[in-house]
Amino acid sequence: MKYRRLGKTNLQVSEIGFGAWGIGGALWGATKDTQSIAALEKAIDLGLNFIDTAYFYGKGHSERIIGGVVRASNKQYGSQLLVATKIPPKNRVWPAQADSSIGDVFPKAYILDYVQRSLDNLGLPHIDLMQFHVWQDSWAAQDEWQETISEITRQGLVKHWGISINDYQPSNAIKALETGLIGVVQVIFNIFEQTPRDLLFPTCQKLDVGVIARVPLDEGGLTGTIQPDTIFAADDWRSHYFRDNRKELLAERLEALAKSLEQLETPFTNLAEAALRYCLSDTRVTTVIPGMRSAARAEQNCAFSDGTLFSQADLKSLEPHAWARNWYE
Ligand SMILES: NC(=O)c1ccc[n+]([C@@H]2O[C@H](COP(=O)([O-])OP(=O)(O)OC[C@H]3O[C@@H](n4cnc5c(N)ncnc54)[C@H](OP(=O)(O)O)[C@@H]3O)[C@@H](O)[C@H]2O)c1
Repeated sequence: MKYRRLGKTNLQVSEIGFGAWGIGGALWGATKDTQSIAALEKAIDLGLNFIDTAYFYGKGHSERIIGGVVRASNKQYGSQLLVATKIPPKNRVWPAQADSSIGDVFPKAYILDYVQRSLDNLGLPHIDLMQFHVWQDSWAAQDEWQETISEITRQGLVKHWGISINDYQPSNAIKALETGLIGVVQVIFNIFEQTPRDLLFPTCQKLDVGVIARVPLDEGGLTGTIQPDTIFAADDWRSHYFRDNRKELLAERLEALAKSLEQLETPFTNLAEAALRYCLSDTRVTTVIPGMRSAARAEQNCAFSDGTLFSQADLKSLEPHAWARNWYE
């Protein structure tokens, strides 16, 4: 496992981080906690030290599983695992709406309450990185959130702050980054969604902000495991994401992508590997956080951090595979 510096936080984080939405026990069909714990333990054994979760992933369930594993690992091996979590929007609206007020989404008392809830769920003395789970940049200049997070940091409850940027709105946090209070962004970045390279990544580089690439596998679309005849369980939210003729559209895109991948200078073994390497090959990305629900997935994904990066020519050849759409809607 290779490590990169998470911007101005100065934390050294593994190139492959643990995306912990799927282990929250809600929305992703049936999950077994024993399997989730095995996935986390395997990833940690393989050098992964960065875990991304959220209060909202099973209303604390994902945080509680992670807290148990992290506390045990820190105690047994003296490891220093890093946990990032998120404060959900008070009005429960994803993404944050352009006309919403921060008073309705992240008022002071609510931020304080959710920091404490996450601390309780994790059972840890502090949170390494707390992220706002949605954001509207029109809120950036307002005093209350700035003073609130500064106060929480002074108390030692949260070490660093981040923003998990609204889906497909990579520039909708730039003003917040300019306040200097936000050290990390989390953004959708993958072979289909390349727009963070235009403005967000150069800004992060200039302001020394760490970048977490989320949904690197397009919710499974960039793995080859989702075919036109794939049927999702009724309680798997991806029956919505891949609804109607979307699996057929995906198959057409993957066929075109396969032709470009065959021509790459850099060797790779399968589509998931190519998708994760794509993210890490932009060195402005600090860590990529695929969802991993089994030890087998953890083993596969951690192996991809071996220093091999796609060349600039390879990256250029993948540019035409950018695909503007929003299947979360
Ligand atoms: N708004 C936000 O802040 C937000 C939103 C979305 C995600 N996130 C974060 O980003 C993380 C990653 O996103 P995600 O989990 O939604 O989607 P993702 O990582 O793009 O895709 C997850 C899917 O890929 C599959 N997969 C993983 N590794 C694979 C491999 N090597 N080969 C084949 N398939 C593989 C998983 O398989 P299995 O089905 O076998 O598990 C799962 O179905 C989340 O867990 C969460 O931490 C944040």
